Formats: sequence, structure tokens, C-alpha cells
Amino acid sequence: MTSDIPVEKLNVDEARAELADLARRLAEADDAYHRKDAPVLSDADYDALKRRNAEIEARFPDLKRADSPSEKVGAEPAEGFSKVRHARRMLSLENAFDGEEIADFDARIRRYLGLTEDAGLLYTAEPKIDGLSLSLRYEGGDLVQAATRGDGEVGENVTANARTIADIPERLTGAPDILEVRGEVYMAHADFEALNARQSDAGAKTFANPRNAAAGSLRQLDPSITAARPLRFFAYGWGVLSAPLADTQMGAIERLAALGFQTNPLTKLCNGPEEMLAHYAGIEQRRATLGYDIDGVVYKVDDLSLQDRLGFRSTTPRWALAHKFPAELAWTRLERIEIQVGRTGALSPVARLTPVTVGGVVVSNATLHNEDYIAGRDAKGSEIRGGKDIREGDWVQVYRAGDVIPKVADVDLSKRPEGAQPYAFPATCPECGSEAIREEGDAVRRCTGGLICPAQAVERLKHFVSRGAFDIEGLGAKQVEMFYRDEVLPIREPADIFTLAERDAQSVSKLKNRDGWGEKSATNLFAAIEARRTIPLDRLIFALGIRHVGESAADLLARNYLTWDAFESAMTNAQVDDGPEWENLISIDGVGKVMAESLVTAFHQTAERNSIDRLVAHLTVEPAQPRGQVDSPVAGKTVVFTGTLEKMTRAEAKARAEALGAKVAGSVSKKTDLVVAGPGAGSKAKKAQDLGVETIDEDAWLALIGA
Ligand code: IVH
Repeated sequence: MTSDIPVEKLNVDEARAELADLARRLAEADDAYHRKDAPVLSDADYDALKRRNAEIEARFPDLKRADSPSEKVGAEPAEGFSKVRHARRMLSLENAFDGEEIADFDARIRRYLGLTEDAGLLYTAEPKIDGLSLSLRYEGGDLVQAATRGDGEVGENVTANARTIADIPERLTGAPDILEVRGEVYMAHADFEALNARQSDAGAKTFANPRNAAAGSLRQLDPSITAARPLRFFAYGWGVLSAPLADTQMGAIERLAALGFQTNPLTKLCNGPEEMLAHYAGIEQRRATLGYDIDGVVYKVDDLSLQDRLGFRSTTPRWALAHKFPAELAWTRLERIEIQVGRTGALSPVARLTPVTVGGVVVSNATLHNEDYIAGRDAKGSEIRGGKDIREGDWVQVYRAGDVIPKVADVDLSKRPEGAQPYAFPATCPECGSEAIREEGDAVRRCTGGLICPAQAVERLKHFVSRGAFDIEGLGAKQVEMFYRDEVLPIREPADIFTLAERDAQSVSKLKNRDGWGEKSATNLFAAIEARRTIPLDRLIFALGIRHVGESAADLLARNYLTWDAFESAMTNAQVDDGPEWENLISIDGVGKVMAESLVTAFHQTAERNSIDRLVAHLTVEPAQPRGQVDSPVAGKTVVFTGTLEKMTRAEAKARAEALGAKVAGSVSKKTDLVVAGPGAGSKAKKAQDLGVETIDEDAWLALIGA
């Protein structure tokens, strides 16, 4: 029945192929059993296939399919929600706050597409619903899966809960065979008030706002609780489709409405920024009477073929923009200023406030940015807030925009208490006592304690286990704090995580006997750590927590160096501002000098370097895939564009090349494989000639990529 190879002997390709085969066979068996009433497998054989599937998935968690048989409803795991890998990533939106940014958005799109200012270009404009996004998968018209956004790549399987939402149809007629509908789950104001009243009558916890209530209700392990809480759903987009819904965004939304989804009635087609802003103003005016929370207006290019050409940046589409409503304000007392020490040693001042409600959310902490900000200056020394400084005891204005951390925006000097003193920003680290210095050109004062500073070490560990990094289930910020202080089973650096189970086994004071832990949670934690011994290169690079290296930079580096060995040896051999490894590093489009210097420094500081080496000794690092299609004629090649392109804009040419797996560099070096030179090409073409790098014109390039 199942393959003969023991699971522990399978290689990745065999595992992937077998998971595909198992998904198909189990789906056929389900179909035969549930819909045709004609089973094709005995119960024992069916169970054996399911077990085999689960064992392979446990060993290769990253190969788990979006349509994994273990995700099918009825097979919910007992604890928590199972994970779902989205077949198409769920992205977020770039934000804008004023009319000028909308004009820039339109201009950028025209530039990218090579359209003139007066060429017609339609956008849809619709309310941005303040809820949480959900992806619904329909196969043959049946709802088969509902998943939350999660980190955009992997979300939670909330199918049973989604089935209880009246706005979500169970069955569609006339839909494409495979259809993923995306939209927002939200709670209406009236339902939110009623829910909170019921909760408080029952002595249960109440929710701060409708969005938290919607999230808390959708993520209930018991679907009957979700069913008792009135959630709603607006459809505004789609993921995988077996056939297009329409040629335009508006057409696709109308099609979704015809299929039975709620779509927002304030969705409107606009011709250019002026009409978009007029519709924005109209929606803002009606905001208070809509009966549900919205936090802005979303604009999308209407023509879907143009959306395709525009494509995506790392986490946001180029063809859409969220125009947020202005932030909300309130005044309160600043009780005291505290200093928090971050992962990179930055000393960040935090305002502890007398709690105040700002736009429906209770705020008791806000950021004060840095010492200049407190003193009433910007980074260049010019006055801000008319030069007013901020002191403990002051009456301050708190500002909150959407999800961002609230900040102290202004101060009312007429209410300053007598005797209030200017705030003296510490020159030593409040956590470890090391000197805190401010480098030239840096707005931030930093602790020089490095890894000896407990605050930096803990923050680095928190970063290490965070979502985009190692994302170890059961090991969050709270547990990291606990293990860091633990005398018997300490975790002081990332490598310690991977020796935890072994140390626990040898210890008499076992984790399972500690407060807050038990046999099951300890076993689960060890299993979750085990599962992460194999880690994709980009996650590892991000997890190292090197200053200036965020998630998308880590991805960029991984796709350039492909393996840990190549990356590690390049960083080890690179010298700041000198030599081919350095040149190669900064020729990566998206890697600037500041980031490159930070990377090279991290690999040359003994303590930090040793800590990295100790960690990597415990890991199997999965190589990265080069960007885009691997079998294209330009895959893996380093390409430089120079001069004027006539058939497409520079930005589009670059995005296309990257989608085909090429690396696009900004300057010509020995590593360049190909230079595409248009009219007016200057020094770069000359350098290519000197170095003997192949140079072609735009038409030859288009022929090469088959455009
Ligand atoms: S489109 C690829 N349209 O806003 C673009 N998003 O800040 C996908 N949201 O994650 C999003 N209303 O949860 C879109 N009308 C709307 C929306 C909307 C709310 C949410 C969505 C997204 C977040 C980004």
C-alpha cells in the first residue's frame, strides 16, 4: 500500500513526490467515501496512508502541502490549529497618509509601465476593513479550507470556524473549479457591544475593540464558540484560481458578488488621483455611520493584466496602496521615562503614561524615539515641536495610527509641573552598566556591552525565536526570558536552544517538573526545537539579528549566496571597502554599504563569530532557491542594465529579469555575466568592454528572455 522506503531514509525529492501521491490517493478515497458512497479503500488501508503521510510531514515539515490530507476537517489535531501553507502568499499593503503620496503612487505606476501622464489609468477605491484577513479555498464549488494570514506564507487552519460565518457560502455554483477567495473577517459595532455586554455579565474578559473581538472569536478552538459570535466577511481579492474571474479588479469583485459573497458597496472605479481622493473624502465622511471599523481606503489598479506586469515587491504588491485615515490623538500625563535596551544595544526611551483611550484602545506606553526627540531636536539639530522638550510629569499628546506603536507627539507647557527638570538621558546602559555611546551620524545611543549585556542577549534570543526567524512553537518571548534566567537549564545564546533536550535528559531538575510546564508541554517543546534543526538559509541569516539585516535583506542574501558555506566564507573573506568579496557583496541590488559593513563586522568580531559557529554546528541549513524561474536562460546570471531602454522601463526590466532568476546588479564587475546597453550607455558599457563582459542591446535581451 505505502512505499517501502522507511521514512527516515527518504530524501527530499522522494518525500515530495510521495506526499503528492498520498494527497491524491487520500482525496480520491475521501471523495469515494463521502460523496459517492462507494469506498475504494478499507479502513485499515486508509489509516495506513494517513499515518504514512503524517510521518513524512513530521520529518519534512516544509514539504507539507496546502492540500495536505492531515489538514482536512475532521482530522484537526487535538491541540491548537494546524498550519496551512498558502499556495499563493497573502501579502500586506504599502501605506500612505496624504494626497501627495497618492499622486506619487500613480506617477510611480505610470513610470513603471511607461505610460504618459494623460494616458487613461483606472483604479478601484474601496474601504480598508479593520479586521483580519482570511483565505477561503473552494474546490469543485465546495468550501474545503479556510486559513488565516499568519506570516503570509503559513497561516492557521480555521475551516471549522469559518463554516459558522453566515457571510461565507459553503457551496458555490458556477465558480472556477479551484477558487481561493480572500477577504476580511470583521465584527460590526452593534455585535461587538452586545458581545462585550454578554462577556461582562458572565464575568469573562471583554475585548478592547471589534478587531480584537473578531480575531479572538475566529481563533477559538471550539467552533461552537465562534458560531455564537456574529462575525462577518467582505470579499476583496483572490489567491489561486483555475480560471480567471474577469479582466478587471472591478469585474472580479462583481463576479464574487454574483457567486454569493458580500462585497463592499462603497467600492468605486476612479480615473486618476483626483477622483481617488474625492472618493476617499466621501468614505471618510461616512466612516462613523458605517457600523463597522475601517482604517482607510485601498486603491488597486483596475486592469488585471497591468497588475500582472506590475507584480510584487517582497511583501507588498506594486499595484495597490492603502490610504490610511489620519491618526487619532489624546492628551494624558507622562508619569515617567524608562529606557529599554534592544537587540542591537539601542537605548530606547519609553513613556509610561496615565492610561488614556486613543481611538478605542487603551494606551499606557508610547515611544519617545531617542534623546534628541525628547530634547526637541531632530537628527540634524533643528528644532521640532517649536523646540519644546519633554519632561517627566508633563501633560503630553499621544498619537496612534493603526497598528503602529503610539508615540508622544506634543507637550503642553502651560501644564508643566513646577520644578520639572529636563530629562537627563543616561550615558551608561541601565541593564549592564557598560558605557552607552552615540556614534557620529547615529540618532541612537547604544550600549557597548555586546553579548555581556543581559538585555541585548535576551532581545537577540527573542528575535531568534520570532516568527520570521526560527519560529519555535512553545518558545516565545516569555519562555526565553525564563530560560535566560534559569540556573539549571539556561539558554544564554541560540546554540543553547539545541542542547536543551540533551541537558534536560541529564539533569535531575527536569523541565516537566517546573511551574507552568508538564510532561506534554516539555515534550512538545523538544519536538518543536528538533523540527527546526533543519532551517532555510534566509531564516537563519535573518535570525542572526545582525543590524540592518531585516527579513527581505536576508532573503536577498540567501538567494545570492545560495548556501550557508558560500555565505559564511564570503563574509569571512570580505574586508570592508576592499577586495572582490566586498565588491560582490555591495553589487547586490538592495545591499548598501551600511548593511554590508554591519555584516562583515558581525563575522569578524570574535565573540559574535564564535556564537554563530556554535549555533550552526547544530543545524542543517537548507540551500536557497535562486530568484524566480530556475530553468530560464538567464537564471543565476548577474545582469546590469545601462543606458535608455525603449520597450519597457528600467524598473520593469529589472523585475522581469529577477522573476526569471537573474541577479540584477547596479555596477559592472568581473562577476557580471551580461550587460544590456541601450542608447546613451556610458562608463558601465565601457567597463564591460574592458573586462570582456558580454554586452547586448535591448532587442537581443528581449529575444533572449523570449519576451
Ligand atoms: S487587498 C495583495 N483590500 O489590509 C493585497 N486588503 O494592511 C491584499 N484589508 O492584509 C490586500 N481591507 O487584511 C485589501 N479592501 C481591502 C482590504 C484589505 C482590509 C487588510 C488585509 C491586508 C491588510 C494590509
